[in-house]
Amino acid sequence: MTRLADQLSALLGDAFAAMELNPALGRVSESDRPDLAPYQCNGALAAAKAAGKPPRVIAESVKAHLAAAAPDLDIEIAGPGFLNITPSPQLYAARARLLADDPRTGAGQVDSTQKVMIDFGGPNVAKPMHVGHLRSSVIGDSLQRVFRFLGHEVTSDIHLGDWGLQMGQLITELEDEQPDLPYFDAAFTGPYPEHAPVTIEDLARLYPQASAKGKEDPARQERSRKATAELQAGRAGYRALLRHFINVSIAALKEDFSALGVDFDLWKGESDVNDLIPGLVENFKARGVAELSDGAWIVRVAREDDKKELAPLILVSSQGSALYATTDLATILDRRESIDPDLILYVVDLGQSDHFEQVFRAAVKGGLAGEGGLEHVKFGTVNGPDGKRLRTRAGGTFRLADLIEEARERARARLAEAGLGETLDADALEDVARKVANAAIKFADLQNYRTTNYIFEMDRFVSFEGKTGPYLLYQAVRIKSLMRKAAGEGLEPGPISVAAPEEAALVRRLDGFHAALMRAHDDRAPNHICEHVYGLSQAFSSFYAACPILPEKDEGLRRSRLGLAALTLKQLELGLSLIGIEAPEQM
Ligand code: ARG
Repeated sequence: MTRLADQLSALLGDAFAAMELNPALGRVSESDRPDLAPYQCNGALAAAKAAGKPPRVIAESVKAHLAAAAPDLDIEIAGPGFLNITPSPQLYAARARLLADDPRTGAGQVDSTQKVMIDFGGPNVAKPMHVGHLRSSVIGDSLQRVFRFLGHEVTSDIHLGDWGLQMGQLITELEDEQPDLPYFDAAFTGPYPEHAPVTIEDLARLYPQASAKGKEDPARQERSRKATAELQAGRAGYRALLRHFINVSIAALKEDFSALGVDFDLWKGESDVNDLIPGLVENFKARGVAELSDGAWIVRVAREDDKKELAPLILVSSQGSALYATTDLATILDRRESIDPDLILYVVDLGQSDHFEQVFRAAVKGGLAGEGGLEHVKFGTVNGPDGKRLRTRAGGTFRLADLIEEARERARARLAEAGLGETLDADALEDVARKVANAAIKFADLQNYRTTNYIFEMDRFVSFEGKTGPYLLYQAVRIKSLMRKAAGEGLEPGPISVAAPEEAALVRRLDGFHAALMRAHDDRAPNHICEHVYGLSQAFSSFYAACPILPEKDEGLRRSRLGLAALTLKQLELGLSLIGIEAPEQM
């Protein structure tokens, strides 16, 4: 479905072609001077040299050609030869009707679809999630929605951090607390008790305890390191414990993520690819790309023209263990064997840029991936009011669960202040508070281009005014209640006509949906969708203020405007859903 700007480009292209000029000169874009006309074409200026004619003369011919060929356009020539274009009300109306009839409200699909894997979330077993994990989850979830909507075959994977030193730390700490458990016996071979010996609360307690002790006492840290190595080498009791830790963590994570409205296809982790590591290492050695250095196997990835020295990737440490980068390489292998994706996106903070550069280059050297098939989708930090990375009052990293609870509390308070939700029962109100809190958190994050750092201001995020998630929900709910009221009066949306400038402006906004989605897709950046839905809400507000709907006496006009409202709501909810935001029915 071509946009209005593309439709106009085709018409102007014909006019240029009629003068034996390149039709590409007819490209029409949204105007930089919307006060003069909504669309413009600068082709006459660009054509002047080749045509050997002054631009105004060319512009005059284009205008004359279109006067006959496209009487639906009003064309003005400005300055040295700019063409200012105003479509007729009929053209707008035809466009609006097409959008209203389309279940996707004008959004197309990508030309060629791919198998895309998205690796995001990335929480670590037993360690609390922090805001970095939140950013990854929110951005990654939006990208999976957008990529799917545009036609790609998407598989998302949470890629749990479940294979590092923290596992050994948990094991030793649990051993100190409950030495009688069967798992610590080196001769343990099962049976595996079905019930986990720990709860998620235990894990949340054990890890910080172990970590603190390890910092104070090197012997203690060494014990954890040894336990980690034995776990990785396959010690049965430790493997059984690992499985318990992972299961307990996944159950808790599933709850947190489902409250946030974020979903993953795969709940795999680093530990799942352990068995692939020996073969992987052999492959690197056989290809001659791994070399022995101080007892460790490394892969050199630096290039001559690098601006900054990139350290070699450590494939096997001098102590014989696999590290973070090794598991990432093994995961690429696993994904290739199971899904064979054309593209893998890693939504991870930009602090890990070197890590991914090392992994990607090593993957190419090891024949695991082609150039361009692996992409690090980077994002910046969330800062406190002091401009430094966000910390809790006690100075620790922020926990996701606390943050969500805080957002909900403020959402409840804001709803009460605004006198919203008064007619709802307690459960329904809590559901609205959840939606408002999620909208606040997600929109605050996604409205920035992802590499931009932003300051965390919960009060502003949950406000119903300004460029916020709750403002958008409020707009959507306002239209829903209008639609309900209309239905109650037996009114139905009718064919759309366009007369007022606010109606034309709203149609132009609606028409920009596909372009916004494509920008989000191409830049892997959901902020373009945020811009679109926000602009759409504002255009709707201006329209609603200038063009009364229910009080309008003319039946046709009333139904046309109701049609525009229905179309706006449909696209607004669709756009919001692509940034993971759900609007309540009422509030
Ligand atoms: N667990 C990692 C962390 O907390 C993030 C994982 C990112 N994904 C990956 N494939 N390395 O830093």
